[in-house]
Amino acid sequence: MLKGKRIVLGVSGSIAAYKAADLASKLTQAGALVDVVMTEAATRFVTPLTFTSLTHRPVARDLFGADSELSVEHVALAQQADVVVVAPATANTLAKFAQGLADDMLTCTVLATAAPVIVAPAMDGHMFDNPATVHNLALLKERGFTVVDPGVGYLASGLTGVGRLADASEIIGAVKLVLGRDGDLAGRRIVVTAGGTQEPIDPVRVITNRSSGKMGFAIAEAARDRGADVTLITAPTPLDDPVGVQMVRVATAREMRDAVEAALPGASALVMAAAVADYEAASPGASKIKKKNRRLSIDLLPTPDILAEVKGDFIRVGFAAESDNLVPNARAKLDRKSLDLIVANDITADDAGFSSDNNRVVMLDRAGGEEALPLMSKYEVGNRILDRVAALLASRAG
Ligand code: CTP
Repeated sequence: MLKGKRIVLGVSGSIAAYKAADLASKLTQAGALVDVVMTEAATRFVTPLTFTSLTHRPVARDLFGADSELSVEHVALAQQADVVVVAPATANTLAKFAQGLADDMLTCTVLATAAPVIVAPAMDGHMFDNPATVHNLALLKERGFTVVDPGVGYLASGLTGVGRLADASEIIGAVKLVLGRDGDLAGRRIVVTAGGTQEPIDPVRVITNRSSGKMGFAIAEAARDRGADVTLITAPTPLDDPVGVQMVRVATAREMRDAVEAALPGASALVMAAAVADYEAASPGASKIKKKNRRLSIDLLPTPDILAEVKGDFIRVGFAAESDNLVPNARAKLDRKSLDLIVANDITADDAGFSSDNNRVVMLDRAGGEEALPLMSKYEVGNRILDRVAALLASRAG
């Protein structure tokens, strides 16, 4: 979604300026046209040549320099921008934005733009906590700026605290969130589930499966990037929370059922990508089961079938992970669970499924349609599913 987007990347004078090089590179690799604007102080930390080399575009820094086109460069950049990202944003630069100052290329650009502005502060913890900075950030938020909060950790001042520039992935997540605001799912609430539930046997062991959660996370990110208000209910996974997605972390099928029921009122669609365990221990042990030199049986009971149980007027999308008879099995599930769409994947394929970033699926719909998609990224699969969801929502509205 960043392809061809015009991103102005403002870099102000913090030691974290070197991290902006990574951000510029990642945005460029994603297909964006990145115009870097540096403050004078930023050029003390990183040279403009670093950014030019990464973005293949000139770096703007001097309002009156020979390289600026008659001082109108900031206006041109400001007008062309789809989004302005200031990372790192120092306390001084934030104060200037809050006051509407325009004494360098970056502040002029920010003041002149009608594009959304994202700021990612980086500074010493005391500066971040100072009431002046707190007030400035609150003012900027009020005016519609998006703030990507700094993280906690080691600071260049030698202290440990809040003030570290957010990770590039988080800043890019905010860019996508902002760019997607007017997407075709804007104003829609979508509930997505992900991961393999864990059903306890005793305090140490669980029944679970090989689901990585990647498919559900990718759908949630794709829906966010199209403007949806997304709730992602996930079973345990090491994946990071996607930016701008409301997260609910659960463990068991029952917890997932309760979270889905709580999230559904007002939702337009439920996409159940989670691999919900079909069985739970009938009576999980309160203490650890000790090893004995004989056979052990665990009594199992079926878990609630979330997709079959939940009621309401929303688009229902299920997944079918199959090892045999992919299409007939998936169609039987679609009918049994009254789904609008089922996404079937063959779990025996070794280039797709579980931990892979790619998937090869067949989408079956209620009208009998069957669409086999080639191998593609899970994010792209997510978008294909959401194309169907958007079309179904549009046909219902009509
Ligand atoms: N599902 C669910 N609740 C369950 C089990 C599954 O909501 N207790 C959902 C899954 O999230 C998926 C769909 O139902 O979207 C199909 O899941 P799957 O496990 O393939 O189907 P089952 O009905 O459990 O059939 P089987 O395990 O026999 O293949």
